Amino acid sequence: MPSPDFHQLQSIDPAALADEARAGLLRPTASVSPKFFYDALGSRLFDAITELDEYYPTRTEAAIFAAHGAAMAKAVQARIGHGFSLVDLGAGDGAKAARLFPLLQPARYVAVDISVDHLRQSMQRLQREHPALPMVGVGLDFSQRLHLPATLCPGPALVFYPGSSIGNFDAEAAVRLLREARALSAGGALLIGVDLVKDQATLEVAYDDPLGVTAAFNLNLLRHLNRLIGSDFDARQWQHRARYDVAASRIEMHLLAREALSVRWPGGERAFAAGEAVHTENSYKWTLPAFDALLRDAGWRDPLHWTDQRQAFAVVLAS
Ligand code: AVI
Repeated sequence: MPSPDFHQLQSIDPAALADEARAGLLRPTASVSPKFFYDALGSRLFDAITELDEYYPTRTEAAIFAAHGAAMAKAVQARIGHGFSLVDLGAGDGAKAARLFPLLQPARYVAVDISVDHLRQSMQRLQREHPALPMVGVGLDFSQRLHLPATLCPGPALVFYPGSSIGNFDAEAAVRLLREARALSAGGALLIGVDLVKDQATLEVAYDDPLGVTAAFNLNLLRHLNRLIGSDFDARQWQHRARYDVAASRIEMHLLAREALSVRWPGGERAFAAGEAVHTENSYKWTLPAFDALLRDAGWRDPLHWTDQRQAFAVVLAS
């Protein structure tokens, strides 16, 4: 029985992560990277978010793949032929990519996630289900820099980036990541999920759901910080807020102090006035023309789009 090949390309340095979190808390407007959402509980809460009626992106993207997967596979093959590596960015359990294996028939599956340990179990299972497909699991924080040695990812590659995770980068960082993806594809293609601009009410309830799952996801970041830097955040003193900024085309998530308070950690502290915020996430929404322009800036050409009937979400193929 073949087994996947695993590589951790960067060591995860908890001291550097802690420095980054403390520096964010001490900025004039406190802000921490959304990557701090994803401890074990945060990842489960995110999975729960994707089950909510109000959180349409995951379900809508899945419906687009189900309706148009065959057409996408045909377009991919017309552009890059057979024998490509399928590189899955932020692969998680690999389920989204695995649904496309029969259609895309890649020569190799390369799953990339921040920690190779997130990949091991699910890839062993995927390998049992697809014994003929060579699989590589790579641990890499590609939000810092996306680069894989050619030995792990022989070109050309189809870079697969679903879920509208590109929306969690501002335009400058998104262009950088998409440029790096283009270099990695070695003349291949990009298949990417993008959440589209829509009415404010639909967007805000997707990020502030009546069950409070997204609120728990946001507040859980405080527990994670407590473990990481030894701070004394009390989640009961904080309130979730999600607002759509029309001018910036982005949902902003914040945590607001319910009262004046101080947060302490070994060697430091930060005072917050009542109502003062920690900014925890931006989730940019794109129009198709604006996303095409972003792709062009990153060197990608000939975008093809598939959307749902309501034009809530798009899957884009570019060469
Ligand atoms: C992972 N990312 C694409 C999600 C989003 O929609 O921006 C994270 C999320 N934040 C709140 N709900 C979901």
